[in-house]
Amino acid sequence: MKRHSLLIVDDEKEILRSLSLTFMQDYEVFTASSGVEALAILEQQDIALILADQRMPEMTGAELLTKAFQINPNAIRIILTGYTDTAALIEAINQGHIYRYITKPWDRQELRITIKRALENYEVVLENQRLINELQIANDQLRDENNLLRREIDKDLHQIEIIGQSEAMQQVFAAVKRVINSPVSILLTGETGVGKTLLARYIHYYGPRKNRLFIEQNCGTLPETLLESELFGHKRGAFTGAIQDRKGLFEAADGGTLFLDEISEMSPGLQVKLLQVLQEGKFRRLGENDSRQVDVRIIAATNKDLRAAVEFGRFRVDLYYRINVFPIHIPPLRERMDDILLLAQHCLNKHRWKLNPSISTFSDEAIQSLSRYDYPGNVRELENLIERALILSTGDQIEDGDWLPVSLVELTGLSKAQLVERAQIKRLLNLYHGNLVQVAQALKMSRTTLWRRVKEYCLQSDSVRDPDVSE
Ligand SMILES: Nc1ncnc2c1ncn2[C@@H]1O[C@H](COP(=O)(O)OP(=O)(O)O)[C@@H](O)[C@H]1O
Ligand SMILES: [Mg+2]
Repeated sequence: MKRHSLLIVDDEKEILRSLSLTFMQDYEVFTASSGVEALAILEQQDIALILADQRMPEMTGAELLTKAFQINPNAIRIILTGYTDTAALIEAINQGHIYRYITKPWDRQELRITIKRALENYEVVLENQRLINELQIANDQLRDENNLLRREIDKDLHQIEIIGQSEAMQQVFAAVKRVINSPVSILLTGETGVGKTLLARYIHYYGPRKNRLFIEQNCGTLPETLLESELFGHKRGAFTGAIQDRKGLFEAADGGTLFLDEISEMSPGLQVKLLQVLQEGKFRRLGENDSRQVDVRIIAATNKDLRAAVEFGRFRVDLYYRINVFPIHIPPLRERMDDILLLAQHCLNKHRWKLNPSISTFSDEAIQSLSRYDYPGNVRELENLIERALILSTGDQIEDGDWLPVSLVELTGLSKAQLVERAQIKRLLNLYHGNLVQVAQALKMSRTTLWRRVKEYCLQSDSVRDPDVSE
């Protein structure tokens, strides 16, 4: 067992020498002949017990021990004193700065026993503290893991089923098959609601990492420092509010998968750190000097044009290439209309049990309507529509009716070619923020024609901006 260190303080050389001799055999002994000298030693050494004479010039023993308490609150503090000094010590003892006092002249054997007992006490205190710390750390880890598991718990793992018979989805499946067993990073692109998150989960839960965690983090919802600490963790004190060390998602996902949604929103500073993990598997917790090693599969997703973000200087080109090693694009639902009925039936089966169990199919008219709509919100919109229909329907099938979006009802008369054109105009309106001049240019169409189409296709609400054209 490690020898404890004692610090003996007395202005009389003789006493220092004799006390040293008493304890040298059992302990590491430091001596000081003044309070100032003693404090200097305390700063440097890991002292378990201080034995100080009360009567010293400049600083009394009680004063010294009060200061020593600030430097090392765990050290046992004992004072040596004559009977006449006792009154002066009472305050210090009451404040808890002094463990006990020993009156002069002392009995050598008794002094030995006192010190031995005090150190046993000291060990118990230290051990307790160590256990409390360990408990605290274990507690924090449990809390973190709990939070991560809670993120996953709502999601019924059996619902990771991807529907799609269209040529476009078959290509997606083929791509997934090629990459699922490798650790390569994947970039999922596609409009919102096409199934990027679902596909990321699929890749994790059907791949070799399924027994470790799948962790999802949106890069667009947190301010930079918070996101950094969330992803990489932090050391206690790294910033205000960092009251203890904390593991980040990269560590938590070690061996598993980290899904970084809306990757285009990541700040330049974090992009550098992400690039480093991708290249070397290494990163640092905030406020820490040493780097840590992890093995995490990254799946990133974006509904933006990352290439354009690179051109605008908002996304690092090196990170772009590193992340884009294996891109998988999920096309919008309107480009794979032959998946709609399968998806609609899938959504019906998924939600009928909790919403309206007596309904199991769609009427022919409802099917007609479903296949005519363009779904700007993709599968998510289709799913919401069907949930709404389930709530509103009576009888045993979903009928054509109120649950259909207004535009869908208005569009029922349009031919397939018109629907395709409508979708194209809608996409461009989105891209050019409703600027008709630019959209007309892109379509090589006059502005007047474009405006007529916009009205015909019920697109006026899509934030159209054009000062020259108005009704
Ligand atoms: N091919 C699909 N098969 C079954 N459900 C799908 C499919 N694509 C999307 N979904 C469902 O549609 C909803 C939106 O998908 P999500 O993955 O969140 O889209 P994104 O992440 O691209 O915005 C989810 O409820 C998802 O389960
Ligand atoms: Mg998503």
